[in-house]
Amino acid sequence: MSKNVRAIAARCLYAVIDQGRSLSEELPKQQLLIESGKDKGLLQELCYGVLRYLPELEQHVRRFVKKPLTGKQRVFHFLMMVGIYQIKFTRIPDHAAVAETVAATAILKNRHLKGMVNAVLRSYQRDPELANLEQLADPVRYNHPGWFINKIKAGYPDNWQHILEQNLQRPPMWLRVNQQKSTVENYLSLLTEQEIVVKQVAPVSQAILLEQATDVTKLPHFEDGWVSVQDGAAQMAAPLLDAQAGDNVLDCCAAPGGKTCHILELAPNIKAMTAIDVEESRLIRVNENLTRLGLNAKVIAGDAANPEQWFDGELFDRILLDAPCSGTGVIRKNPDIKWLRRATDIDALVILQKQILNAIWALLKPGGTMVYATCSILPEENCRQITNFIAETPDAVLESLVIAEQSNDWQILPGDNSMDGFYYAKLSKKC
Ligand SMILES: C[S@@+](CC[C@H](N)C(=O)[O-])C[C@H]1O[C@@H](n2cnc3c(N)ncnc32)[C@H](O)[C@@H]1O
Repeated sequence: MSKNVRAIAARCLYAVIDQGRSLSEELPKQQLLIESGKDKGLLQELCYGVLRYLPELEQHVRRFVKKPLTGKQRVFHFLMMVGIYQIKFTRIPDHAAVAETVAATAILKNRHLKGMVNAVLRSYQRDPELANLEQLADPVRYNHPGWFINKIKAGYPDNWQHILEQNLQRPPMWLRVNQQKSTVENYLSLLTEQEIVVKQVAPVSQAILLEQATDVTKLPHFEDGWVSVQDGAAQMAAPLLDAQAGDNVLDCCAAPGGKTCHILELAPNIKAMTAIDVEESRLIRVNENLTRLGLNAKVIAGDAANPEQWFDGELFDRILLDAPCSGTGVIRKNPDIKWLRRATDIDALVILQKQILNAIWALLKPGGTMVYATCSILPEENCRQITNFIAETPDAVLESLVIAEQSNDWQILPGDNSMDGFYYAKLSKKC
């Protein structure tokens, strides 16, 4: 396989959009084909960028290609979008973007489409604007699927456009300082020594927002477990759970373990931490994170909706339920979600969340606390799910979220204080 980054990007996009593979699985495989770190970064930029602006880029291709490409030739459809993306959204000089993209046709073994790719990119350069922007269909105008735009309009009638715009932004990089190894102040000085610029420090957690994303290998003492990469919103889970010395704690949808580890960093004297996930392969990451950070947990492959398979009979004082969800709060990080998720997936997820909530509630001690979290911004997975649960569960009480100064639950929207979209509700069980 060649090292032409544009050709690799086109293949990767074909795998995601036409074959339904997730970008987080596909991209690392494709990056293995590339040696230079700079080119790996470019591949990532091209794939993320095209997925962010897919409808708009497709509209441009449609303007210049009268007969849509089908079958194996579809990879050239993605290649043309890779070309237009570079011209419109990157600082790569236009002549280099065109030349490299056209050169990719030879690598992709279809030289007779070379002329077509060249002609489309040159036509785009001559005429880069879509006409009648106001009259474009919503998916093209806002670069999201229609079903999703409709849901966001219904859920957030006053700020739906802002949410859609935020989803197109690049995610910033947040760090979480491991309180067991360092303090935020100490770690800030280590970052300064490395000339890594900090943009913001969160007031209520160990969260540091960097001015620019950086390779983890450049972060001081990363391998020694002094720091982890975790979004600022995700870092709210552990302080909200507020585990205390002696508590028996459950994280029932734990992989890859970011929140499990944060809970243990904040509360090293808990009695025990049990980390469950249904996907055994994802537990490898949980164990790697625990080892790197110097922490311990009972890590078990199990289905949170069927605890009888793994529950040992000792009730929990605190439970984190970071539920499987649509991921619609983290589209900045995973733009493929927009194209891989279907409207019908949401109903199935709401049912699964409800099953897990009911099953796990039975494992909470009277007087105990559960934090329900999702990285979704859809009300049916969040406030509506919790309102229904409270209505149907006589011993459940919705607590106020003191650290967040929220009276009830907390819907964080993408971009709020530079964070991902997240939802939190804290429930306690009547004695
Ligand atoms: C949002 S992710 C959890 C992220 C994790 N809490 C963290 O902070 O690193 C949701 C997880 O739920 C897991 N999951 C989905 N269905 C499950 C089930 N029925 N039982 C247990 N885990 C489940 C998925 O495999 C996925 O790892």
